[in-house]
Amino acid sequence: MPEVGEPLHLVVENVQAALLAWYDRAARTLPWRVSPTDRAAGVRPDPYRVWLSEIMLQQTTTTAVAPYFAAFTTRWPRVENLAAAPREDVLAAWAGLGYYSRARNLHAAAIQLAEKGFPPDEDGWREIPGVGPYTAAAVAAIAYDQPANVVDGNVERVMARLFAVETPLPAARPQLRAHAGALAPSARPGDWAQALMDLGATVCTPRSPHCGDCPIAQWCAAAAGGAPAGYPRRLAKTAKPQRYGVAFALRVKGRLLLVRRPEDGLLGGMRALPTTPWREAAWTAADAAAHAPAATAWRPAGVVRHVFTHFALDLDVWVGDGRADAAGEWVDEAEIAQAGLPTVFAKAAARALSA
Ligand code: ADE
Repeated sequence: MPEVGEPLHLVVENVQAALLAWYDRAARTLPWRVSPTDRAAGVRPDPYRVWLSEIMLQQTTTTAVAPYFAAFTTRWPRVENLAAAPREDVLAAWAGLGYYSRARNLHAAAIQLAEKGFPPDEDGWREIPGVGPYTAAAVAAIAYDQPANVVDGNVERVMARLFAVETPLPAARPQLRAHAGALAPSARPGDWAQALMDLGATVCTPRSPHCGDCPIAQWCAAAAGGAPAGYPRRLAKTAKPQRYGVAFALRVKGRLLLVRRPEDGLLGGMRALPTTPWREAAWTAADAAAHAPAATAWRPAGVVRHVFTHFALDLDVWVGDGRADAAGEWVDEAEIAQAGLPTVFAKAAARALSA
């Protein structure tokens, strides 16, 4: 905690210096990152890689993102390559990463960026499909070293603890954002944003923060209170609604029937198994059969459970043999892992093929 009578601006400067010095020592090595050493030597990040990584990192961990980032930048090293790629290829390459509207927006944005160039500032990035306030600020700070208030879940947690904010999320957001803005230095905006993210991801972690390793623990009000893990305060979570569906694996001569999901719904534009709608009541066999892609003797192959953001799904998998006259695309069963199925349907297909 600050000494009584210590001028506030000095406390802020000390916190800034301590966190940046820690980042200089302890920055994570990440495939899209320019290290603080290289940055100090004048190396500038590639805005394409910064933008792509920030889209992938929305609601997704660095561990999950790393192989996708490598695959995308190898296959499409520049935004012009991504813009020129068929959209189905981009969606298929995104399969497994989740939140598929990101992939649709990514491709639309790539076309725009390849044509008009990269926007020069945060306001310009806000106009790009798929780029919200967080991502615009992150790209401005990290790619261009422009002062921007970069606030993601990690930064919210750090601020909630540092200032022991008692207002629960989500109502606390404006307060947390104001704290983050007041703490940000005018120098080294890119390193500062990433230092806060690293602190949140590796030290100021959600469940059991490692305050002994924290470079700013001496100023942390929640640590001083003895229960930092209790911040940010949250309203009690309501349980996710449960939904039910039946997915149909129609197998003919070593091939499996796939369809493309409607553009405007969940997993829009992605490849999938044919399925009933997903509803709150379980399906009877007769009701489900009305949605089947073919009239055949369907056999149950088990249930796949998948948790989406707003609901949990129990998906019954039915397997059937039929004639190859159903509408859709027939994919070799040996190639199903490369077919670009989102995780729930990859699990369902694996279940069907091992039945
Ligand atoms: N999470 C979101 N953006 C990030 C970044 N640039 N580095 C590390 N973690 C992140």
